[in-house]
Amino acid sequence: MKRRDFIKASALLAAAAGSGELLKASTRPLTEMGPEADAFPDVCPAEEPDSERLIVSAPMLQNFADTSMGIVFAVRALANGYVLIGEQPDLSDARKVLCGGYRVTDLDDRVVRVRVTGLRPSTKYYYRIGADRISYEGGYRMKILGTEEDPRTYFFTTAGEKTDAHFCVINDTHVRWEPFSRAIDKIAALAPACVIWNGDASNVEETVEAQVRIFLTPAIDRKDYAACTPYLLCPGNHDTRGMANRHLERVWMFRQPEERQPRDWDLGRNFAVRLGDIALIGLDTAEDKLDSNPLFAGLFTSGPYREAQTEWLRDALARDEIRSAPYLVACCHIPLYDDIPTHNPGDVAPADKDPKYSTDYAYWQRTCATLWTPLLDAAGCQLVITAHQHRYRYFAPDAGRPWAQIIGGGPSLGFTGSGENRREDPGLFPTVIEGLVQNGQLEINVHNLVTDTIQDHFTFRPRQ
Ligand SMILES: [Fe+2]
Ligand SMILES: [Fe+2]
Repeated sequence: MKRRDFIKASALLAAAAGSGELLKASTRPLTEMGPEADAFPDVCPAEEPDSERLIVSAPMLQNFADTSMGIVFAVRALANGYVLIGEQPDLSDARKVLCGGYRVTDLDDRVVRVRVTGLRPSTKYYYRIGADRISYEGGYRMKILGTEEDPRTYFFTTAGEKTDAHFCVINDTHVRWEPFSRAIDKIAALAPACVIWNGDASNVEETVEAQVRIFLTPAIDRKDYAACTPYLLCPGNHDTRGMANRHLERVWMFRQPEERQPRDWDLGRNFAVRLGDIALIGLDTAEDKLDSNPLFAGLFTSGPYREAQTEWLRDALARDEIRSAPYLVACCHIPLYDDIPTHNPGDVAPADKDPKYSTDYAYWQRTCATLWTPLLDAAGCQLVITAHQHRYRYFAPDAGRPWAQIIGGGPSLGFTGSGENRREDPGLFPTVIEGLVQNGQLEINVHNLVTDTIQDHFTFRPRQ
């Protein structure tokens, strides 16, 4: 996507927002916090209905891929949603794709999820969203009360070897609108081909409404932030917390079952996509405590989930388009390495407690590292981008670790502590990690969102 196209789409949306058609933003008090504190509010502020519009958000592009795309938007009443999509800007060649899969459509009163398949790699598509308002009184007593279409035409380009080798990574946004807004503004200026949301978008979310607020109706100016820029998600530990987050796929949809092997049926968001010369891998490190921790009441299964992803990763790395990419970049939320001895590695049975560690939850994930890094090492992975610690860090490759690791910054805007203990800490800043291939190498820019400068710059040569 070209930058001017993004600006044009934003301007169209801004015009709509100015006419009062879209939901008003509400804000919440923000408090600064230390690394990966658990003291987050439970839910997002609720939206106040301010119109009778059926469609109440811009679309969000989810699970960027080479031959498919997820298109998700919010509605305020029972609706049968759809997407009109084609390669012509006027949509004269458009086909209509209904929400849901086979047999019945995905009738829903809050979120419409459409997975468009059968697309061509590295191809630009135009689309519109629409929804039928449905009256359902039981049995055959159902009818369409009216149809609403968003008048705007959006667009995206699928993944593939001819797609711009240009991505951005954000992480640990934690429903903090100011740092999130800064990240989205930076991404709008950089205009990458896709964005990886590297976990902890949530805090502890108990309702679908709260999830809708985070992903589809955030309290930021650029409410169409993901309408023309595709997103990928590597969930963080907080993205599994709360009753609603146990099924985040109701708002952050999975890929279609036919897009993955039966063995990988529940790995609906792991990704291995080609972005020009870059192969991007997405893994989910899951919770930051052991499944056996009494806090979890036996309700989490991170262990087998990580093992299942190991088999998926082995196969993904062997795929032709991934194996042949000059650059291999992996993303996951919890770091796979840490050189500070007091940082808990996340495998301390039975309850994550040990006086030699500074916290009783994982600062990094030794279990995932043991499972995944031998595969990444053998594949020649150059860079692992992680998150979770709420402080930007960089680890250069060393004799025992052929890949570099970046830990993205957290949501704090230059302060630590709260109340009387609040103090400045210039080491705490949110980041946008930008990767692009130019001049025959992978260039990484770490953007500091407090100073609005490039904090660090790294280059990587093609893998052998
Ligand atoms: Fe976090
Ligand atoms: Fe985290």
